[in-house]
Amino acid sequence: MAGLLDGKSALITGGGGGIGRATALAFAREGARVAVADASEATAQETVALINKGGGQAMTLTGDVTDARVVEGLVKSVVTTYGRLDCAFNNAGIAGWQVDASGKKTADWSEESFDRMIAVNLKGVWLCMKYELQQMVAQGGGAIVNTASIAGLIGLPTSSAYVAAKHGVVGLTKTAALEYADDKVRVNAVCPGYIETRMTEDTMRRRGEQLMSVVPFHRMGKPEEIAEMVLWLCSERASYVSGAAYNVDGGYMAT
Ligand SMILES: NC(=O)c1ccc[n+]([C@@H]2O[C@H](COP(=O)([O-])OP(=O)(O)OC[C@H]3O[C@@H](n4cnc5c(N)ncnc54)[C@H](O)[C@@H]3O)[C@@H](O)[C@H]2O)c1
Repeated sequence: MAGLLDGKSALITGGGGGIGRATALAFAREGARVAVADASEATAQETVALINKGGGQAMTLTGDVTDARVVEGLVKSVVTTYGRLDCAFNNAGIAGWQVDASGKKTADWSEESFDRMIAVNLKGVWLCMKYELQQMVAQGGGAIVNTASIAGLIGLPTSSAYVAAKHGVVGLTKTAALEYADDKVRVNAVCPGYIETRMTEDTMRRRGEQLMSVVPFHRMGKPEEIAEMVLWLCSERASYVSGAAYNVDGGYMAT
């Protein structure tokens, strides 16, 4: 049976982490050649090794998405190796605990923590889009998916700059969808709820029981459940979908 992404080439940032890895594996399973990019070379290589073990085709790229020259280089490497860039999943991101803001209300965030959060989770997505869009317009089309969050749709106490960045990602997504519709580039966002990855380990240890009590499914999501949405959004099956932000959250946004 033909794969959903047969013959396509893809770039995934944060590809060494939970959601990025699951998506890289899903893309490869569906026939894409996948460039797995991450700030951590070791985890990106692990993802690539898993893809190769399963008979897929993948390459490792390393770098920080907050650096314009690095991001330009990531896109160039994909095009040099695979000839074009059909699908991009801009997914690299960090949580509050990774910038020393765990449990802090808005007035208690340091300027340094705020700046780093916005740099990675918002500017990083914009930089990726900037170079991906240039390539996709030149080649005649493509599909981009950005990782926002339920935090891109509602407020979440003690997640100030994270929430601001993710709302910004939804805004960037909608704007680019309008701007590049005529160029046949579709741009969408995925908004995960609480997903089992390294990012949520700390929060779940501290208040997992309370959080799961208000999620209608009463469980966390698995990275593979986000990957399925991203895969669909990048595939031709979503040919009439652009500028959307899809929740994958066990029903949380309906509460
Ligand atoms: N886990 C959740 O519950 C959840 C919920 C909503 C949204 N998200 C979002 O999903 C995305 C993926 O997160 P995850 O849960 O898989 O976490 P994760 O920590 O497993 O993965 C994140 C990956 O991004 C990489 N990364 C971080 N900063 C980077 C940078 N500056 N440049 C390049 N790579 C960088 C990390 O090395 C890591 O591999 C993030 O954008 C996150 O905000 C996660």
